Amino acid sequence: MISIKNLNKIYTNEQISVHVLKDINLQISRGEFIAITGSSGSGKSTLMNIMGGLDSNFTGFYALNDVDVLSLDDKKISFIRNNSIGFVFQSFNLLKNITAIKNVELPLIYAKVSKRERSSRAFLALKSVGLEERINHFPNQLSGGQNQRVAIARAIVNNPDLILADEPTGNLDSVSEEEIMNIFLKLNKMGKTIVLVTHNEEVLKFCKRRIVLKDGIIIRDEMR
Ligand SMILES: Nc1ncnc2c1ncn2[C@@H]1O[C@H](COP(=O)(O)OP(=O)(O)OP(=O)(O)O)[C@@H](O)[C@H]1O
Ligand SMILES: [Mg+2]
Repeated sequence: MISIKNLNKIYTNEQISVHVLKDINLQISRGEFIAITGSSGSGKSTLMNIMGGLDSNFTGFYALNDVDVLSLDDKKISFIRNNSIGFVFQSFNLLKNITAIKNVELPLIYAKVSKRERSSRAFLALKSVGLEERINHFPNQLSGGQNQRVAIARAIVNNPDLILADEPTGNLDSVSEEEIMNIFLKLNKMGKTIVLVTHNEEVLKFCKRRIVLKDGIIIRDEMR
């Protein structure tokens, strides 16, 4: 599903350039549940952004579902982002002034799905994360774990085959953390490929493969 070969990423500002990812080689198959870990600044989010098609400013090769991402124009990349990838972030990234169900409908609006189908699909996505009784709540009326479940519902509503989650439990207590990880586990069992960034040992236990980044280099890649 993901094929990365000799990928290098250098951030350049006016004064300095930082070599953040160094000759990364990584193959991820469909259906994997993989964690990327490593200390702060090791390049985890940079790698996730590239995998998610949010950053095309790199050298080397990256193919997602056999499509060479660097060969695509912005329009094609956004299409892939909207249809094949679900993103989950540490800080939820929900819109505060609209309800849970309206947040979940957003990707369907971009995908030009009809209004009626939008609300039924958003409802089903919220139901699948156990929030069918909270669909009309606003983000500030929900707990952290519930907000993250809304964010997961939003990530899966387009039925993507790849879910990218950057520290999805970083802002949560241990009970919510376990709930969220069980949802990822369920999604993985349904066939979704999950790539998750985490520092947390409890979270790592859920993942079947672990990659450790250090200073932009993969220093470990192990199955458990
Ligand atoms: N826009 C940018 N311009 C310049 N340097 C950047 C930029 N974004 C990130 N960096 C640098 O790239 C390196 C890797 O950053 P990245 O965000 O990928 O780390 P990370 O492993 O996700 O860290 P954390 O665990 O703290 O989230 C860091 O040294 C960071 O300072
Ligand atoms: Mg990061």
